[in-house]
Amino acid sequence: MASASSLGLLLMLAALVSTATAHLSPTFYDTSCPRAMSIIKSTVTVAVNNEPRMGASLLRLHFHDCFVQGCDASILLAGNERNAAPNFSVRGYDVIDSIKTQIEAVCKQTVSCADILTVAARDSVVALGGPSWSVPLGRRDSTGAATAAQVVSSLAPSTDSLAQLISAYASKGLSATDLVALSGAHTIGMARCRGFRTRLYNETNIDAAFAAALKANCPATPGSGDGNLAPLDTTTPNAFDNAYYRNLLSNKGLLHSDQELFSNGSTDNTVRSFASSAAAFGAAFATAMVKMGNISPLTGTQGQIRLICSAVNS
Ligand code: HEM
Repeated sequence: MASASSLGLLLMLAALVSTATAHLSPTFYDTSCPRAMSIIKSTVTVAVNNEPRMGASLLRLHFHDCFVQGCDASILLAGNERNAAPNFSVRGYDVIDSIKTQIEAVCKQTVSCADILTVAARDSVVALGGPSWSVPLGRRDSTGAATAAQVVSSLAPSTDSLAQLISAYASKGLSATDLVALSGAHTIGMARCRGFRTRLYNETNIDAAFAAALKANCPATPGSGDGNLAPLDTTTPNAFDNAYYRNLLSNKGLLHSDQELFSNGSTDNTVRSFASSAAAFGAAFATAMVKMGNISPLTGTQGQIRLICSAVNS
């Protein structure tokens, strides 16, 4: 049984956690910048209609922001974090900059880049036919970026095992179900050959015809064709649906980390459930996205509201 003092400590910790997220509210800008949400939605919709992959890129941008130093738009700052190896192929900065310029024109220094990123990720999913959810708002922007070493240690590589992935997500307060649901983001977007070459040529739990087709555009020799792209969801690359999970059931996960989720392990049943129900996946994805968006936000008087997303205020 917990002693009185450890119970007190637990209650204090619970209060601290709820204060951190209590600052975030979906109605945060309703009075201070009522046009912000429609500017984000229309700009994202135009960008995604113009190039469907942009929806995937904006979703990934938000994920890479949140896992490194929290959802504080630190990834947008020109410099070490943005240039770190795991962020090398991250895209979508121009769309965020355009949204920020339009919002600054109507509400000066009011809406944070961190909130713009979070809402743009949700609107991207919606633009590609996925679920919608209410986004808690009120994040503020960091006054500095992370180091390249912090980026490397915060973002799990796709060579990780299921156990490593589960523990990396647990360190961010995310469950194994959240891991499986969030990985469903790979129902859209592309990956480079260098990230799945080893899986094509060295792994056995991969569908033979699927591997053969991919090999045509991803040569075995390291360095050759490294940047050649393949869709993460081979079936419906531009639709935010649950085909990603059905691909895993037939050993057609593109990345090692994708197939790890369905490889005779503890998450197999979750994959089966999301493969058979788009509604179950959609609900779990929305829940997990809100949890991910709440990783260590700066609130209240912490940080700042940047004037432009790529630099701290002078
Ligand atoms: C489980 C851990 C994860 C690993 C190891 C991982 C790894 C990767 C890799 C290697 C790529 C391809 C990058 C390239 O070759 O250029 C990629 C792309 C992508 N990832 Fe993940 N990812 C993970 C989780 C997530 C999460 C949680 C999200 C969002 C909620 C996400 C969203 C995306 C999207 C949308 C793309 C495609 C981006 C584009 O086409 O521009 N990933 N991921």
